[in-house]
Amino acid sequence: MATLIELDGVSRRYATPGGTITAVDDVSLALAAGDALCIVGESGCGKTTTGRMLAGLLRPTSGRLFFEGRDVWRTKGDDLARFRRAVQIVHQDPYASLNPSRTIAQTLAAPLGKHKKLHGRGARAAMIALLERVGLTPAEDLLVKYPHQLSGGQRQRVSIARALTVDPRVIVADEAVSMVDVSIRISLLDLLHSLSREFHVATVLITHDLAVARYFARGGRIAVMYLGRVVELAETESLVADPAHPYAVALIAAIPEADPTITRTKEHVTLRSAEVPSLLALPSGCTFHPRCPLSEAGLCDVVVPALEDLPGGRSVACHVAVRERRPAAELLGVR
Ligand SMILES: Nc1ncnc2c1ncn2[C@@H]1O[C@H](COP(=O)(O)OP(=O)(O)OP(=O)(O)O)[C@@H](O)[C@H]1O
Ligand SMILES: [Mg+2]
Repeated sequence: MATLIELDGVSRRYATPGGTITAVDDVSLALAAGDALCIVGESGCGKTTTGRMLAGLLRPTSGRLFFEGRDVWRTKGDDLARFRRAVQIVHQDPYASLNPSRTIAQTLAAPLGKHKKLHGRGARAAMIALLERVGLTPAEDLLVKYPHQLSGGQRQRVSIARALTVDPRVIVADEAVSMVDVSIRISLLDLLHSLSREFHVATVLITHDLAVARYFARGGRIAVMYLGRVVELAETESLVADPAHPYAVALIAAIPEADPTITRTKEHVTLRSAEVPSLLALPSGCTFHPRCPLSEAGLCDVVVPALEDLPGGRSVACHVAVRERRPAAELLGVR
């Protein structure tokens, strides 16, 4: 499938009181229409920064963002306006991103008027169709409500409906499920998933929860980030069954026991250290090496591993897995 949107070797640095940090380091990701991709990793690994660069909200310090083959940060005028409509972000906390003094109808009316020139009855019909599409019924009742009158899950859905007002091609949802309780998580993930399947919207979910990643990105791909870099990019099912990067092995081992299909990877993954290094004092070579059970002195502590292909359509940034041409799960005997 043709690439729709692509981050090409992007990095983002920040000046902080303790010195300059590289929040995202040389990340490349590409999506075609209808792709579902999940970016997963621990707090502070650069997921939100990556998502904001993908959505064109944050300019990379280096590297490029392409949409339909055009370099977005060199795009102007109509092409830029088209990109802005095509890529929508759904916020982590919809309560903060919805204007509390506006009804749902008012919230949806603005983008419908601006981008689709829909007003009056036409706008109302479009709003009702959108609310029904995101599972908010009876839609007529919702239109007159204010955000504080809705549940967290309903606000999330309004936030998704608002993103859909402009017929986006890409939706980036940053932990869209973390603010709501477990019972409504699944239905929101299903809604996002159906946008990719039924409407061919490329969807990117950002989460720290690998169980959520696995559920959302079924049939799609997962990118595992560690300290600003993508360490593994693979099809969801192959990543979960047979993680190639030792860090991905550890993440999967940490998924709660309740999931019976992954218990076989759950034995004997002991990291050499539980501590995540600071971005201000990154380890040399592979930044995972001080924690890694496969680390080899003279190699892993010296050379930064690039993301390289392994058999099975996966990419991994691990010297040992690439040299052995076997996933870390197998090398560690936990598959
Ligand atoms: N504007 C900024 N100025 C300075 N540092 C920043 C800024 N934005 C992010 N960072 C730092 O960059 C790193 C990555 O942040 P980011 O928000 O992308 O992580 P994350 O993976 O989304 O984390 P979380 O799971 O907690 O949301 C963190 O160390 C963060 O403190
Ligand atoms: Mg974040």
